[in-house]
Amino acid sequence: MAGEPDIETTAAGLRLRLARQLEKDGRLRSPGWRAAVEAVPRHLFIPHFYRESDAPGVTTWEPVTPQNIGQDEWLRLVYTDETWMTQFDGHDIDWTDPKPISNATPTSSSTLPGLVVRMLEDLDAEQGMNVLEIGTGTGYSTALMCHRLGSDSVTSIETDEGVARRARQALAGSGYTPHLLVGDGRAGHRDGAPYDRLIATCGFRNIPPAWLEQVLPGGVILTTLRGWMRSLGLVKLIVTGDSASGWFSEDDPSFMIARQQEAPESLGTVPGPADGTRRKAMYGPAVLTEAGPAFMAQLAAPGARFFSMAVDGGPVSTFVLDSVTDSFAVLTATDSGWQVRQGGPDASGTQSSRRSPPGRSTAHQAPPRSV
Ligand SMILES: C[S@@+](CC[C@H](N)C(=O)[O-])C[C@H]1O[C@@H](n2cnc3c(N)ncnc32)[C@H](O)[C@@H]1O
Repeated sequence: MAGEPDIETTAAGLRLRLARQLEKDGRLRSPGWRAAVEAVPRHLFIPHFYRESDAPGVTTWEPVTPQNIGQDEWLRLVYTDETWMTQFDGHDIDWTDPKPISNATPTSSSTLPGLVVRMLEDLDAEQGMNVLEIGTGTGYSTALMCHRLGSDSVTSIETDEGVARRARQALAGSGYTPHLLVGDGRAGHRDGAPYDRLIATCGFRNIPPAWLEQVLPGGVILTTLRGWMRSLGLVKLIVTGDSASGWFSEDDPSFMIARQQEAPESLGTVPGPADGTRRKAMYGPAVLTEAGPAFMAQLAAPGARFFSMAVDGGPVSTFVLDSVTDSFAVLTATDSGWQVRQGGPDASGTQSSRRSPPGRSTAHQAPPRSV
């Protein structure tokens, strides 16, 4: 009588199914990357992880291990097109006794394979090219590149020491030996340069100058640009000497922001009712939630974030607070449109006279959801 298929046989079958699905979804477009998806054992990169619970209320993540949900179900989840969280708030998980986690911000994950391969396809990387990856994470995307391009052609930088150590073990265990570094990817890695391609799997507030120095003219930088107002975009840039230009993609995958660029916890100081000067506003706060206008607003006020609340039982106002410059704008609906009350150094036509007196409230914002 035939026994149960072993884990490697089952995993190989699940990879074939995943590859077929990614091809059908238009994510996988070339035989080379398809072969990589069929070969790389994602289960060695996420031996345990967290998934979001369906329970109503505060967002909670629950641990997923072969022990707590069974090996078959764990393996099935590993090979679905989902992002699985592996770290929160920069703390390592105690996998001997993992507990549900809430009120935490994910800081490392295995990004959904559909997005990883779509980015790899967009990168136009071919054999013989030297590639720099920023954000090793679990090492799964690094492994796909090693399979397709050869380990010697791949350098990957991870900022978190524990995350980097686990990725190194998983990569070695799968037979891949890329150049792995622990550090801030914004500096790139000069010793491995020049690179033909640079791919970042975390978001940045700007393009670091070192990337422009280390990527060859004509080379590609693929990264998410994002700001503190939650607007972001995946951008593909072609390097032309000391600058680069390119296009944002039509959809906007949400990558977690680089550790060193996270917004301060406090949104800033809520202005008092008499602070600032008033004028009619051309637009209401809805533009701040539309991708294009919000991105422009972030460029104009990179330190600003916004939230809405009613003050002293009055109408709901939208507060745009800059925790860096201490500027503010408060948008409130009027009978005929919108009014803005603004102050601080960034508010045009007003003087910087604002202080943050003790006793004023400071505001906080829930973190954005990212992969
Ligand atoms: C979404 S995860 C990467 C997913 C990974 N590519 C995979 O397939 O598993 C983003 C990673 O970027 C790392 N990171 C954040 N800021 C960084 C920085 N400045 N330099 C290098 N890595 C960074 C995080 O620690 C996290 O592990």
